[in-house]
Amino acid sequence: MPDEKSFHMTPEEFRCYGHAVVDWIADYHSRIESFPVLSQVKPGQIRVSLPKVAPEKGERFDAILNDMDKLILPGITHWQSPNFFAYFPCNASGPAILGDLLSSGLGVQGMLWSTSPACTELETHVLDWLVPMLGLPDKFLSSSTGGGVIQDTASSSSLCALLAARERATNYTSNQTGSDGRIVAYASTQTHSSLEKAAMVAGIGVSNLRLIEVDGNFAMRPEALAKQIEADKRAGLLPCFVCATMGTTSSNAMDPIAEIARICRQHNLWLHVDAAMSGTAALCPEFRHLQNGVEFADSYCFNPHKWMFTNFDCDCFWVADRKALIKTLSILPEYLRNQATETGAVIDYRDWHIPLGRRFRSLKLWFVIRHYGIEGLQHHVREHVRLAQQFGDWVRKDERFELAASAPLNLVCFRHKAGDEANQKIMDRLNRSGDLFLTHTKLNGKLTLRLCVGQTNTQERHVVNAWRRICEEAGKLSH
Ligand SMILES: Cc1ncc(COP(=O)(O)O)c(C=O)c1O
Repeated sequence: MPDEKSFHMTPEEFRCYGHAVVDWIADYHSRIESFPVLSQVKPGQIRVSLPKVAPEKGERFDAILNDMDKLILPGITHWQSPNFFAYFPCNASGPAILGDLLSSGLGVQGMLWSTSPACTELETHVLDWLVPMLGLPDKFLSSSTGGGVIQDTASSSSLCALLAARERATNYTSNQTGSDGRIVAYASTQTHSSLEKAAMVAGIGVSNLRLIEVDGNFAMRPEALAKQIEADKRAGLLPCFVCATMGTTSSNAMDPIAEIARICRQHNLWLHVDAAMSGTAALCPEFRHLQNGVEFADSYCFNPHKWMFTNFDCDCFWVADRKALIKTLSILPEYLRNQATETGAVIDYRDWHIPLGRRFRSLKLWFVIRHYGIEGLQHHVREHVRLAQQFGDWVRKDERFELAASAPLNLVCFRHKAGDEANQKIMDRLNRSGDLFLTHTKLNGKLTLRLCVGQTNTQERHVVNAWRRICEEAGKLSH
């Protein structure tokens, strides 16, 4: 019998090319500082270098890998560069990359406990580990009334929280009947735009998402929240949900969770805490005061894929009452029925988020936590905060610049006093130079530069160099 024809990669080829890929990644990381941080290509430049149609014949693997350097790298903005200070970070690390590779290698789809018990149980276990690691309330533990699940992003977590809140407030009828336009949700003017999207998707409507005003530190004003809820109730509406943010995207403002929680309890509203980036800081007990009141939250999320050295995507989401979430998102068609589910003794994570299918994402998180240990994670978080605070001091002491917001952790918002045009110029020149990458926001109507210290490998010398380059560009302003 002749061998069956196959185009597949053989296990031996896989081993050989796999080593080459790991070498490529290791080399990339060791030479990452030689690339301009922000990709310098023009729109469409990457596509014109690619063949118009797909290859008829399979190609050699080394040719494909060579094209990573030639065709792909020019179009990469180097998020893993230690000179990346833009947005919020999106970190990777050795253990996370390897954990993710193993997840790909296993290739399991963990929609049900029975489709890979380890995929479900490791996830539950690691999310239970994280509860005391972050000083979160025991009610989030799987052994209590709640539990945690890994979602792709904080946007998905907020959407799930809002859906569960909507269902709870309508006695679980709105999934059947749709929203009648009376359901209202609350966030602040500084809340991440994903809440607006969640209001659209959840059928609540953006006009029924009240954006509560903020104080001088860009944090939600609880008395304004209380007033708005009361007005909405008087108008016959049905308030159901508040999102408080620990560390807003624009300026890292900290909403007063405890006061917001008191109002939520008074009106029986679902409180969701979005700690997408800053939640990682709670690994260190000295920063936990920023999440005071989280013990009253109905749900909470943070992204290890931002600041906890775990590559994208990985958002951890906990609820205090898992029944409310499961009742909101559970559908059981005949083809997914199985004995383990019927016993009620297992978790089927497909009921805890929007998609059915799911990757084995807890592997990379498990690898990260075991590799660093709590001690290692705390060390790097503390170091990032120290470096950002040092940068803030340099800004404060330089009379050309001012701080635009308080800097509680690792984000510094600052600006040159010469105004918007000057700040825009400084930022554009820095980013064009490729030496570092930072981004901006608007605070009180003024263009403000943001420098976030959180990339896995950022050290003191990178922050020192960033400040030196900023000063250099400020010095050229009149030119
Ligand atoms: C506070 C906050 N919430 C939500 C998000 C959205 O994150 P994701 O991309 O995980 O949806 C961000 C992103 O920066 C954020 O800063």
